[in-house]
Amino acid sequence: EVLAASRYAALATGVGVLVGRLAALSRARAGTARLAEVLAEPASAYGARELPSGPGRLELRGVTARRGGRTVLDGVDLTVPGGTTLAVVGRSGTGKSLLAEVAGRLADPDAGEVLLDGVPLRDLTHDALRRAVSYAFERPALFGATVEDALAFGLDRPPAHRVREAARTARADAFVRRLPRGYDTPLADAPRSGGESQRLGLARAFAHDGRLLILDDALSSLDTVTERQISRSLLTPGGPTRLLVAHRAATAAAADTVAWLDGGRLRAVGPHAELWREEEYRAVFGDAEAVTK
Ligand SMILES: Nc1ncnc2c1ncn2[C@@H]1O[C@H](COP(=O)(O)OP(=O)(O)O)[C@@H](O)[C@H]1O
Ligand SMILES: [Mg+2]
Repeated sequence: EVLAASRYAALATGVGVLVGRLAALSRARAGTARLAEVLAEPASAYGARELPSGPGRLELRGVTARRGGRTVLDGVDLTVPGGTTLAVVGRSGTGKSLLAEVAGRLADPDAGEVLLDGVPLRDLTHDALRRAVSYAFERPALFGATVEDALAFGLDRPPAHRVREAARTARADAFVRRLPRGYDTPLADAPRSGGESQRLGLARAFAHDGRLLILDDALSSLDTVTERQISRSLLTPGGPTRLLVAHRAATAAAADTVAWLDGGRLRAVGPHAELWREEEYRAVFGDAEAVTK
């Protein structure tokens, strides 16, 4: 009986090992398929030019971009003087995120050109481009072993004091300090709400000195007080050129200029106060805000 039992036990262990192996094999298969998708993406080609010194003047010339067989951006011409802030507003699905992608060369337009300080983005080396442009997103993907690593992530690692300063500007410092090991907390052990994620994403963008800062709905999950505080420090003159996709009237009002996108075309470009006279512009921000403003 002992012999039989031990035989059965051995058999069971054997099957267990086999099942484990099979599971690993099918995970590897799924992983390979996902990796193949990434590898199948055409690699971006970069140029050989460096950026001349300049204030970060951004220029879009006849930018047209198609997605899913549809023209999403249609001949957009736009100039953002160096060091100023442009808010991009418009109804959902109108091409704001695609405009933000194209402005910092996360995507290339199908026609037209984007220039930074007179140099087409396509002509820049990878490093020149990535050093010049910082992004923050609505739902940031954070990388790194610890919170500190996640905020410092980028081409060049900023010194710790810059990371702390950026976190304070993004109103992320206080909750990071409350984590079990503060900035050294493993990223996987740092629970965070949507708003906290956004603030970490903002801090990462602020920690890197570029000449163009692009925020795509990166303040959308913040309460109005925090959004206002961050907008205020964002808009101090002398910083990088800023392009903010905004969905709150207060943010648009704080920008130097507003670009109003409608159906992939620029409907109007001008100061918020001027555009606000138009009922359709007010409607972009929803009825609630139109009433209280
Ligand atoms: N990869 C894609 N494939 C198909 N359609 C897309 C893709 N990316 C964006 N679109 C479409 O382009 C339009 C503009 O999208 P987006 O720039 O995200 O709008 P917004 O940020 O203003 O809400 C939407 O209608 C969207 O469905
Ligand atoms: Mg969007």
